[in-house]
Amino acid sequence: MNDEFLKLAEKRYSVRKFTDKHLEQEKIDKILKAGMLAPTGCNNQPQRILVINSDDSIQRLRKCTKCHFDAPTAMLVCYNKNECWTRKYDGKTCGVADACIVTTHMMLEAEELGIGTTWVMHFIPEAVRCEFEIPDNIEPVALLVMGYPAEDAEPSPLHTEFRPMEELVVYDKF
Ligand SMILES: Cc1cc2nc3c(=O)[nH]c(=O)nc-3n(C[C@H](O)[C@H](O)[C@H](O)COP(=O)(O)O)c2cc1C
Repeated sequence: MNDEFLKLAEKRYSVRKFTDKHLEQEKIDKILKAGMLAPTGCNNQPQRILVINSDDSIQRLRKCTKCHFDAPTAMLVCYNKNECWTRKYDGKTCGVADACIVTTHMMLEAEELGIGTTWVMHFIPEAVRCEFEIPDNIEPVALLVMGYPAEDAEPSPLHTEFRPMEELVVYDKF
């Protein structure tokens, strides 16, 4: 066992300072492929991903969130409300879960490629809808801002704060 995955997960942190360099299409394609490989409820693949990599779209993104961190690239992971699997017992859908596992795959593939990311939920949904002409059936969930980490990028103090395992995990019953 070489613990490659645990090492990758441990190395990743939310990068909030980037160089100006846009991501190359080859890197974008790999990150998108990692998202495509993610499991989704009933394999419905309701995710829809908006790639924001031109100067114009990055300018528009900056109107939608304070948490853009001057990143040169971003991807907005959404889901199609008409396509996600629904649990008949309570009507809950797995659209958010689907979008989140897709985002997680993308975030970790970016790390593998040396690209820093921060997962951002603090965006104005209406502004995002308006700037990027998102139709009503598409629900934005996660904004992944990304780019090459600046030389002096560093993890925030929150990165190393972990609750004890006993608080997070129970065996057999709550
Ligand atoms: C669902 C989710 C939403 C988040 N939203 C934001 C956000 O809006 N702005 C931000 O700066 N960081 C955001 N983060 C990043 C977290 O603050 C960060 O992952 C956490 O503090 C742990 O730090 P680390 O990623 O460096 O390990 C979000 C992370 C997740 C998983």
